[in-house]
Amino acid sequence: MIGTDVALAASLLKEGKLVAIPTETVYGLGANALDSKAIASIYAVKNRPTFNPLILHFASWEAAQPYVKAVPKEITRLASKFCPGSISFLLQKTDLVSDIITAGSSHVVIRVPDHPVTLKLLTFLDFPLAAPSANISNTVSPTSAQHVADGLGERIAYVLDGGESKIGVESTIISFQDNHVTILREGGVSQEDIQSLGLIVKKSNNKTIQTPGQLKKHYATSKPLYLVDSITEYLDKNSGKRCSALLFENSKVNCTTYLLSANYDLAEIANNLFATMRRADADDTDLILIEHIKEEGIGRAVADRLRRASIPLNA
Ligand code: TXA
Ligand code: MG
Repeated sequence: MIGTDVALAASLLKEGKLVAIPTETVYGLGANALDSKAIASIYAVKNRPTFNPLILHFASWEAAQPYVKAVPKEITRLASKFCPGSISFLLQKTDLVSDIITAGSSHVVIRVPDHPVTLKLLTFLDFPLAAPSANISNTVSPTSAQHVADGLGERIAYVLDGGESKIGVESTIISFQDNHVTILREGGVSQEDIQSLGLIVKKSNNKTIQTPGQLKKHYATSKPLYLVDSITEYLDKNSGKRCSALLFENSKVNCTTYLLSANYDLAEIANNLFATMRRADADDTDLILIEHIKEEGIGRAVADRLRRASIPLNA
């Protein structure tokens, strides 16, 4: 059921039920993080492997403090600048966080979402919400209540509708060690945003921490999505194929088209990406085409999601 009743959402969560929650990045599948049965049902409903840990969501940075320890001062600075917002922090966990949240790791990821409905919901609760994106594992993340209902339907108690997510790609996940920030997942807060605080940023080499969201195939449409240098060239060479094309700016191409932005606005492209991938997936066409995007600002997160959603051209 989709609705806007925050008190109902709170009471369902207190009973150990699953409630989809709106955030500015994507919708989350929320459960009481202190209730191991509720957590187990997140994994079951999403068909998510239990080795893939969950992010904890809090009403404020202060509310998260009992759950983490040894917080570097640089992380505190980042949090005071970007929380609430689309950034998540990998930190040492305290005993309040169970191993099934972290898949056995001594570290937990925490975040304060920037969405008025979910912030209000969190103030009704005396526990944090564990919430992965509210989709079946390896499918496109939901940016509206209807997307959640399309994917999870009757499997969950309630979808709390907070409108369309305004960022549209998941949060940036970072850690801090050896005097630098490591970006474990690109997202709503960009590398440039973090560097603007004078911090050194490195990209994860994936050797120190394994985040399954960084597995190659993720966020996939059900029909093939190809990342190409030029849509026009692809269409010229493959005239027999029925294609849907996602465009970054106004241009003429000879197939079914969707404009992610009229003028290559990266924030707008990020915001429209997942919803448009879903629409193109429902077209009566054979495949989806999109060109490589400029890798700057939030374009880095878009490029990352497209690399994971696409399949190699010669496959
Ligand atoms: O924007 C977001 O972050 C959304 C909204 C709902 O908050 N959530 C989200 O959750 O994207 P999920 O579960 O779809 O992606 C979280 C990623 C996964 O790749 C997971 O492996 C990683 O974070 N992660 C979570 N806890 C971790 C931990 N303790 N250590 C390493 N990676 C972790
Ligand atoms: Mg996800």
